[in-house]
Amino acid sequence: MKVALIGLGTTGKIVSEYLFNKNVLSMVLCRENSHNAGMDLGEVLHRPYMGITIETTANLEEKLNIYKPDILIDFSSPKFLRDHLSTLAKCKVNVVTAVSDYSQMDIKRIKVLARKGEIGVAIAPNITLGVNVLLKMAQIAAGLLSDYDFQVIDENHKNKKDSPSGTAEKIASAIKKVFEKSGEHNDLVPIHSIRAGDITGRHKVLVCGKYDQIEITHTAFSRTAYAEGAYRAACFIYGRKGVYEMKDVYGLMGNSYTGEQIPLSSNKKGTASVYA
Ligand SMILES: NC(=O)c1ccc[n+]([C@@H]2O[C@H](COP(=O)([O-])OP(=O)(O)OC[C@H]3O[C@@H](n4cnc5c(N)ncnc54)[C@H](OP(=O)(O)O)[C@@H]3O)[C@@H](O)[C@H]2O)c1
Repeated sequence: MKVALIGLGTTGKIVSEYLFNKNVLSMVLCRENSHNAGMDLGEVLHRPYMGITIETTANLEEKLNIYKPDILIDFSSPKFLRDHLSTLAKCKVNVVTAVSDYSQMDIKRIKVLARKGEIGVAIAPNITLGVNVLLKMAQIAAGLLSDYDFQVIDENHKNKKDSPSGTAEKIASAIKKVFEKSGEHNDLVPIHSIRAGDITGRHKVLVCGKYDQIEITHTAFSRTAYAEGAYRAACFIYGRKGVYEMKDVYGLMGNSYTGEQIPLSSNKKGTASVYA
């Protein structure tokens, strides 16, 4: 499996090192006017020479045909896929996008282009296994405690561009879906966002009743958690077609968690399109 990476920011740098150590990183991209263009990845990471020259997105089709990555992992911004998804589809490069601030229109367009181009795309605003388990736990609580108040608190580093985070929105909408199904709870699920210092990422679901409360919290200690999730998603999307979410990657579909895990080396092919 050959992986390309776009985005060498706060998270992308950690992801690049993780993928390099896994021996799958074959290409690193940056935008056209980036100061990283033409540098060795080692220089950017303050490491010894790594033998990976950072390429710009100019003439992307030509470059993809030279490097031939199987998958591109995206830790950049919504603009990258807006500009380049059709080229990736043309070159049959599958995509894992961890970008968390897409509009509904972006998501629709990604689905259409992925299906038309017959490639696989994992849309992963919530990339860690831990956060996906938190999502499940919150849904169980919503099913059992429909008369409690549910609130989501999202804490992230002060330079994070989106607020609330894509993960916080995903948690709130998952809870709302359970309420809608049961028809018992009509309230909104408010999200409170804190942007401070270098908080790696914390999401809390506060479930508050009249006499007691539950807190379900996921804290990422290290951005390596995101790198690990991206690698899991890349292994999953390798050789697949269709549009997926992280719950598909982790085998967390349906109403109850089965414990089924996708092995890291999985390259099982499939054509199902399951992103709702
Ligand atoms: N799914 C998850 O669980 C998860 C976890 C962490 C982060 N994220 C998401 O990943 C994204 C990056 O996060 P971050 O904290 O690393 O942000 P960041 O520090 O701002 O880094 C963003 C990187 O993307 C590059 N970039 C921006 N627009 C681009 C474009 N149009 N084409 C190519 N490259 C572009 C930037 O390049 P320059 O340096 O040239 O500006 C920079 O290297 C955000 O959407 C964030 O929410 C998701």
